[in-house]
Amino acid sequence: MRNAKWKAATRAAFALTGVGALAAGMAMLLPGTASAGTTLGASATEKGRYFGTAVAANRLSDGAYTTILNREFNSVTPENEMKIDATEPQQGQFSYSSAERIVSHARSQGMSVRGHTLAWHSQQPGWMQNMSGSALRQAMLNHVTQVATHFRGQIVTWDVVNEAFADGSSGARRDSNLQRTGNDWIEAAFRAARAADPGAKLCYNDYNTDNWTHAKTQAVYNMVRDFKSRGVPIDCVGFQSHFNNDSPYVSNYRTTLSSFAALGVDVQVTELDIQGASATTYRSVVEDCLAVARCNGITVWGIRDSDSWRASQTPLLFNSNGSKKPAYDAVLAALNNGTTPTDPPTDPPTDPPTDPPTTPPPGQGGCTATVSVNQWTGGFVATVKVTAGSSAINGWTVGIALPSGATVTNAWNANRSGNTGSTSWTNVAYNGQVGAGQATEWGFQANGTAGTLSPACSAR
Ligand code: XIL
Repeated sequence: MRNAKWKAATRAAFALTGVGALAAGMAMLLPGTASAGTTLGASATEKGRYFGTAVAANRLSDGAYTTILNREFNSVTPENEMKIDATEPQQGQFSYSSAERIVSHARSQGMSVRGHTLAWHSQQPGWMQNMSGSALRQAMLNHVTQVATHFRGQIVTWDVVNEAFADGSSGARRDSNLQRTGNDWIEAAFRAARAADPGAKLCYNDYNTDNWTHAKTQAVYNMVRDFKSRGVPIDCVGFQSHFNNDSPYVSNYRTTLSSFAALGVDVQVTELDIQGASATTYRSVVEDCLAVARCNGITVWGIRDSDSWRASQTPLLFNSNGSKKPAYDAVLAALNNGTTPTDPPTDPPTDPPTDPPTTPPPGQGGCTATVSVNQWTGGFVATVKVTAGSSAINGWTVGIALPSGATVTNAWNANRSGNTGSTSWTNVAYNGQVGAGQATEWGFQANGTAGTLSPACSAR
């Protein structure tokens, strides 16, 4: 299934420079066979989302594991290999080999990578656990800077800070050595991450933040609102969503996702597993994400039940023998049936896109394209959204005039003609058919400065 490789690396911002890189970028554009509707990744892509899984480096040599991984998923999160204890086992000595195995596997398959996690109270190496005060603050910032710089351009989204709030009714920060360096440690980490990898989306990630009425959820919400109001560089919030009998899925989950999105951040389901793997609950989670325009992807925390950190709860989509469970069928069906409701809107009207559309809203038939640009010194990632008008379309072409000095180095989910000046982009096999009012996303990375891009869409 070559098609699975580059299929839906939503904003797969691989840093590519030079001729070899350009060749690699071109290779990723070779059209494949359509598999939309038959795998999690392809079906999610049709809805403008990714579908990912946690990956453990030491399982990549298991053929049954990689068969499912390569077939079904288009985003990966290293399960442990990018954590602080793995990447900086001794202070100042960085160790990237396990993480790089995962990144290079993902890259060879055209999957995007979520980086997890730069700053966390847990899985700290011994040297960090023993530190405090300004020395710890400095060590934490150095860690964020070094790791984000090392992987710069290869990580679509970083979980910058993980699990910084306390459980229970206090709504307080979790006590930790990092918290004791000062309440501003979280924003300091985000600023360091932005400086080191300006093209990556930066997430705050936590668990037990699914229930909108919980104090912890509200506390994280207030922090994100504060960050947005003060210009702290945060782009997204990850909801781990480890659901179990003590922390069950609740029907206000959709309200939680849409409320955070209304603050002007993306939301992602980052570590989904459900005790017992109820098909109904899995379906609800997918439907909730699809109902929120800024919910841009779902990651399950492992492939087979035997791969799960909570294996005894059999919480995943595949049995230990690799066969699909009823929950898998429910997720696939939800992805295929799901629509982003427009009448009435499920998202509150207070959830505008960060960037204003550069083309008019869809009219009768046809399509429109809008672009959002993540610019840094010397390069940018452009994410283009193609929205069908009031009729379904069977294919699309988007023209984009690049300013002089801008050169495309890499692209995903689109076929390209030209990499400077007038560029023309067409759908790949799995994202040409877009339902009325529905959208699909694709993108490219380029050297130079984007300026104002004005994409023009025509439909077939
Ligand atoms: C878990 C891993 O799955 C285990 O292999 C490891 O022993 C402990 O960490 N929240 C997170 C993840 O953010 O990093 C955790 O992953 C699960 C809970």
